[in-house]
Amino acid sequence: MAAMTSSPSGPGTTGTTGAPGSSASGRPLLNRRLAEFGTTIFAEMSALAVRTGAINLGQGFPDTDGPDEVREAAVRALRDGRGNQYPPGPGVPELRAAVAEHQARVYGLSYDPDREVLVTAGATEAIAASLLALVEPGDEVIALEPYYDSYAASIALAGGTRVPVTLRPRDGRFVLDLDELRDAVTPRTRLLLLNTPHNPTGTVLTREELAAIAELAVERDLLVVTDEVYEHLVFTDETTPAHLPLASFPGMRERTVTIGSAGKTFSFTGWKVGWVTSTPELVTAVRSAKQYLTFVASGPFQYAVAEALALPESYFTGVREDLRAKRDLLSAGLTAAGFEVYRPQGTYFITTDIRPLGDDRSHGGDGFAFCRALPERAGVVAIPNAVFYDHREAGAPFVRFAFCKRTEVLANAVERLKAL
Ligand SMILES: Cc1ncc(COP(=O)(O)O)c(C=O)c1O
Repeated sequence: MAAMTSSPSGPGTTGTTGAPGSSASGRPLLNRRLAEFGTTIFAEMSALAVRTGAINLGQGFPDTDGPDEVREAAVRALRDGRGNQYPPGPGVPELRAAVAEHQARVYGLSYDPDREVLVTAGATEAIAASLLALVEPGDEVIALEPYYDSYAASIALAGGTRVPVTLRPRDGRFVLDLDELRDAVTPRTRLLLLNTPHNPTGTVLTREELAAIAELAVERDLLVVTDEVYEHLVFTDETTPAHLPLASFPGMRERTVTIGSAGKTFSFTGWKVGWVTSTPELVTAVRSAKQYLTFVASGPFQYAVAEALALPESYFTGVREDLRAKRDLLSAGLTAAGFEVYRPQGTYFITTDIRPLGDDRSHGGDGFAFCRALPERAGVVAIPNAVFYDHREAGAPFVRFAFCKRTEVLANAVERLKAL
């Protein structure tokens, strides 16, 4: 398995540089670890949406806020002077207790809120701090490709080498090849960076897949960082398992850093409240890096998220049912417009294959060209999945649409896509 030390442009980037140039001496301003990360595709596509008035189904943020009572809890915290000054480094005790209670209630996993929970500035900081803490320059980090764009940048910042293992479409789902994963492990592999439910493919790893990953991690003594920010956005039916945390598998609790976030579950992506659960030793290591990134963040919002995590089960079911209806609406519209649709088992993204649209209309299966033209052609913005790949050719024909939008917005997008 070839490790990727460099590619013309890192995941998430457009392939155009956007890099800040060089100093008078000719030395590039941006340090070489970040040289491959130019302007992100999200910035380019969101600007395109504004310029053309297109419906933005590119970036994954909801267009309505989360529950009123949670917002009011934040207002109360602000008014009562809770969190307006630096909160404690590991997070406010109320939120750490709520995270531990949530892991116990939902998954039967027990964590000590004082030593095994760390609050972060969103999952993004949790990912960066985990990699900075656990990876030495030269270590290899295996990640499932396509991957969320911050993974590549965080691995690069840590001086690690990313080793992508590609999920491939099979029977309507993007599937992890466990043999390929096994082959990717070398004596230099330090950790596996997993993501389930998986953005952008919508795959939810099954019990069997997770068990095999766990066995491999134990056998090869690997650390695992698992990004489970979409844990509550899973559309269970006969073919889709509920989300299972990797830490619940034999031998995993002691080697797994689990990452969660309030942004996705509670629709407050701007609050940037995330968390890590793990052993005291791993949490201490991650905190060592985190304290010099933000030290602390989101004071009053931490109190509000503590209340959110204790919402009744009906809240979580309601979110899922609402998103399931939206998934089905957009999936049907995309299918009718001529796309091949990979109906997601979780998350709020749909990956499509543009090739059935025909060579002309799919720009020969080039997702970049397709997405750049889509706002003019149909008034909708999507993201080319190739930006989430090192092996860009493997992602070329796939395009991602977000469905965390109001029903009327999705219905309007479906109408517009008929133009294709
Ligand atoms: C897989 C994945 N991980 C992490 C994040 C970032 O989460 P946060 O907003 O909590 O930093 C996202 C956001 O899109 C995501 O899709």
